[in-house]
Amino acid sequence: MDRIVVEGGIPLHGAVRISGSKNAALPIFAATLIAGGEYHITNAPALRDVATIIRLLAELGVLIEKQSTGAYRVDTLQAQGYEATYDMVKTMRASCLVLGPLLARFGRAKVSMPGGCAIGERPIDQHLKGLAALGAQINLDHGYVEVVAPGGLKGTRITMDLVTVTGVMNIMMAATRARGLTVIENAAREPEVVALARFLNSMGARITGAGTTEIKVEGVEELHPTDVEVIPDRIEAGTYLVAGAITGGQVALEDVNIEHLANIVDKLRECGCQIVENGTGVSLKAPSQIRPVNVNTSPYPGFPTDMQAQIMALLTLAGGASVIVENIFENRFMHVAELRRMGADITVTGSTATVRGVKGLSGAPLMATDLRASASLVLAGLAASGRSTIARVYHLDRGYEKMEEKLKALGAVVYREKE
Ligand code: EPZ
Repeated sequence: MDRIVVEGGIPLHGAVRISGSKNAALPIFAATLIAGGEYHITNAPALRDVATIIRLLAELGVLIEKQSTGAYRVDTLQAQGYEATYDMVKTMRASCLVLGPLLARFGRAKVSMPGGCAIGERPIDQHLKGLAALGAQINLDHGYVEVVAPGGLKGTRITMDLVTVTGVMNIMMAATRARGLTVIENAAREPEVVALARFLNSMGARITGAGTTEIKVEGVEELHPTDVEVIPDRIEAGTYLVAGAITGGQVALEDVNIEHLANIVDKLRECGCQIVENGTGVSLKAPSQIRPVNVNTSPYPGFPTDMQAQIMALLTLAGGASVIVENIFENRFMHVAELRRMGADITVTGSTATVRGVKGLSGAPLMATDLRASASLVLAGLAASGRSTIARVYHLDRGYEKMEEKLKALGAVVYREKE
């Protein structure tokens, strides 16, 4: 296994290009199953999770050819499988995103129930509630969930019991082929949901309201292949903004969607960062002293849970105490113990972390536990005095494309070595 080595204490300066969004790319690849034919996907990020969904589609009989960086030709005409195996789902729980598309295409799908993961149990009860409401029969057996709709799906009104991103994605994808109108209430408003709806509409679906809490899907007889460019990754962008802030530097990000960054930019401005937005770029100048702030993670447009670990790393160096409440996942403080080993002063009570700023962090041997926790440790390592090593860096590779190269371009001393 690889580990990342960071020599900290260097203010970052320079520009970096933001890659396509992991959480927009995964549902788009899955949605190509709905209508057989040839699709072209561009600006897809080079990530382990994208490689995983590509492998899953190939197992289902999809022909996928990488044409150039980030560009794939996807031919789903021959797709015939309808099962996502345990090995596949245990690698990446977002494999469950094939449930809706397979049900829409073949009237059946069989997916290994995603086990919990480091950040929480993460059930898919809401996905199944929605698919059952559309008329699918749900069978749980030997760790697999099988959804079948031999008579097809019928549009209905579905009220989600909680806001779930991939849950609303699965229901939306299935509903594109249901007979009649489906109304999804209490829907997730994330930009990745909007991007998927736009993609589905370009395939001939009739979806309105994506980005609001009520999404309407008018079922259609036929959908067709199309081409799509993946939107920029707002969490990668937020991570590099924090990299500039935590090292006391000045960074410029290119190819971002400013609108999607509003909640992150607002919070970093509250911390004292100077941030200038211009078209598809955003630049940040760190203050001499980070101000403490309070953070409450919540569904979009609130502060994203996927940025909680990263902002916590920043706040360990603030001039005072910050309170961070994690409202989405029940176990998303795995980075706290590792940050403490670098000298951070953090106390956790339930879903609330109190972060008392310290003068500085010291580099240490660290262990990554999940994707965003590993990003948080790299950020802390960039600010710490001395060397940090982050082990199990495969977590990082799931969601950050060429992170060392991008950080090096900003002046960081960072490299990868075999553990
Ligand atoms: C998506 O996960 C993202 N992943 C996550 O990003 C992100 O953290 C999360 O949304 C929240 O924004 C992808 O898009 C591939 P949820 P998802 O369903 O859809 C509970 C990253 O770092 N829940 O919105 O799986 C669930 O346990 C990843 O890129 C149910 O109880 O998250 C969680 O507590 C991590 N029942 C909360 O809802 C369900 O049926 C939100 O989960 C579904 C979810």
